[in-house]
Amino acid sequence: MPNDFDTPIERRGTGSNKWSRHPADVLPLWVADLDFAVAPAIVAAMQERLRHPVFGYAAAGQRLRERVVLHCAARYGWSIAAEDVVFLPGVEPGFNMALKALARPGDGVVVNTPVYRPILEAPGHWNLRRVDLPLTLDGCGQPGIDADALDAALAQAAVYLLCNPHNPTGKVFRRDELVALAQACARHDTWIVSDEIHCDLTFDGRDHVPIASLDAEVARRTVTLMAASKTYNIAGLKTAFAIVPDADLRRRFEASRLGMVDSVNLFGLVATEAALEHGEAWRADLIAYLAANRDHLHDRLHTRLPGVRTTRPEATFLAWLDCSQMDLRPDPQSFFVDRARVALSAGSEFGDTHRSWVRLNFGCPRATLDDAIERMAAALDDR
Ligand SMILES: Cc1ncc(COP(=O)(O)O)c(C=O)c1O
Repeated sequence: MPNDFDTPIERRGTGSNKWSRHPADVLPLWVADLDFAVAPAIVAAMQERLRHPVFGYAAAGQRLRERVVLHCAARYGWSIAAEDVVFLPGVEPGFNMALKALARPGDGVVVNTPVYRPILEAPGHWNLRRVDLPLTLDGCGQPGIDADALDAALAQAAVYLLCNPHNPTGKVFRRDELVALAQACARHDTWIVSDEIHCDLTFDGRDHVPIASLDAEVARRTVTLMAASKTYNIAGLKTAFAIVPDADLRRRFEASRLGMVDSVNLFGLVATEAALEHGEAWRADLIAYLAANRDHLHDRLHTRLPGVRTTRPEATFLAWLDCSQMDLRPDPQSFFVDRARVALSAGSEFGDTHRSWVRLNFGCPRATLDDAIERMAAALDDR
């Protein structure tokens, strides 16, 4: 039976962050989780584990580590060893640990703005200086990186905190772009911390290239952060992993747990293993559904909300919408939540210069997406 992504699932009253923040008449298309049922193979693995009645502290077993190794080889052509993998309760703790491990107070950390708020905020947690490297937009609105600006930014930094695929723009860095980034980091002797949580959500046959997979020299200076959480909708199980091939770097990384980043959720480990072992067919269906939602959203915005400018994201289930032509007061996020009863993420979360943008999560049944688009269009018509 094909996976059913069309039938809405009632999530109110289930402890969902996405569905409990706003009043009941508001459609939530903000925080990045999917409104889809988790793959049956993952649920079955968790149910099987539930049959054992003890839920003490968990540790990732060799089988799971080997599964990550296989996954990296099969999906990205990246050869890693089981001991390179460090399990963590999240990618966000992972990039904070890495910054703590690699930089000293006052050092610079390059980030590509606009970007996911916890990435913007992480340097500040460790008294590091954030060095913004704004993404450029080409004539078609596609984001990129200016080589001179990159060099200038890296000259002031100890770490490049990369987000690939990029949240919120959905950009997938191409191999040639990553080579240029890695060469620039080598020239400036800059560490790379690469948040690749959206790695398995690429569209249109695009490959995800982990920057550390380029060559051994890049791997030596890189902490890669991944998870099954976004792709398989298991973010609430709080499980992610770092891949750190260099043993010294891995020791430094491990040493920065600082009593705050503890062991990993038992069920998260079970679910991650099941996702990587049995999830591929489900993932393929998901990608097809999300790509169709993306295209549908793009077309409907064009006809129903022509004032909104956007591009088709190359990955993720997040659309980045430029509302600057419409002068929505007091800001687009407040306008849409108050007048359309649709909750989006405010552009200001992703950087000060993006207050007239919003991020829309299209990881929902098509009917929910259509409802949101119609509500937004009607609110604009009524202005
Ligand atoms: C780019 C990016 N990194 C990290 C996270 C959070 O990861 P975790 O829940 O594993 O800390 C998100 C969640 O939306 C994200 O989009």
